[in-house]
Amino acid sequence: MALSIKPLHPLFAGEVEGLDLRKVEDPATLAALRSAMDQYAVLVFRDQPFTNEEQLAFAERFDGTLHAKTSVSVLSKNRFGNEALTDISNVGADGKVLPANDRLRMSILSNRLWHTDASFVDPAGRYSLLSARVIPPVRNDTEFADMRAAYDDLDDETKACIEGLNVHHSIAYSREVLGFEFNEGEREQLKGAIHPLVRTIPGSGRKSLYLASHASRIVDWPVPEGRMLLRDLTEHATQARYVYPHIWREGDLVIWDNRATMHRGRSYDDKTYRRELRRTTTLDLPQPA
Ligand code: OGA
Ligand code: MN
Repeated sequence: MALSIKPLHPLFAGEVEGLDLRKVEDPATLAALRSAMDQYAVLVFRDQPFTNEEQLAFAERFDGTLHAKTSVSVLSKNRFGNEALTDISNVGADGKVLPANDRLRMSILSNRLWHTDASFVDPAGRYSLLSARVIPPVRNDTEFADMRAAYDDLDDETKACIEGLNVHHSIAYSREVLGFEFNEGEREQLKGAIHPLVRTIPGSGRKSLYLASHASRIVDWPVPEGRMLLRDLTEHATQARYVYPHIWREGDLVIWDNRATMHRGRSYDDKTYRRELRRTTTLDLPQPA
């Protein structure tokens, strides 16, 4: 099945036209979408009025098993009664915009650091599907950066230096960088995971830098030296030429490949404007046929 895709950036990201994903069930279209993900790494679909149940069902049809052990679930009970539907909003259990000093708000603020979803678990996150339900009248973009192009542009010396390195990822680390504090019990549940720094994505055969704000150290390296290298690589990989900024409209569904990209939310006045999105993230297990 041929998809209609409009490129959104010279390196990656495309807008798929003419599909209502709630109704997409046939294996040929799902396979074409996965193959488009291998090429574009970020796909945008406009006017997709998903309910929570429809979003969960589509994510499972698209890519199998969902990630349900999110960091937010350690801090508070999921508002929707399903930990696989991550609440990407500035709204509390009472439905009101979170006040400035709310602990959940401060944890969610770290989505504004460059990261990739669920790199702190094993298996890690593969695709994230983010559905825009309520969007403020001011800019509140999510930016995406292409980690394959960033890898390709490294010089040979750097490529040789980073080949075979492993990185520890921990969500406690990325929160603590911003000054957020976890108690012992929470930290125990957020021990993290180890993944290679350079990954080859099976569908495209392309190599990618697997970086994230969660990347806390390089295994077997002195911690400061490892963090310095991770910072240098992140600075390189998030230069403007690798970045697509997504300007949200209500009803958008954006799917990204966490193996091939990093992303970050941009700041907006979240104490004034309600912003509600819902995320489903799949795990990097063998793909459905
Ligand atoms: C996410 C995320 C950023 C944003 O949903 O995983 O990082 O702009 N979102 O809300
Ligand atoms: Mn994220």
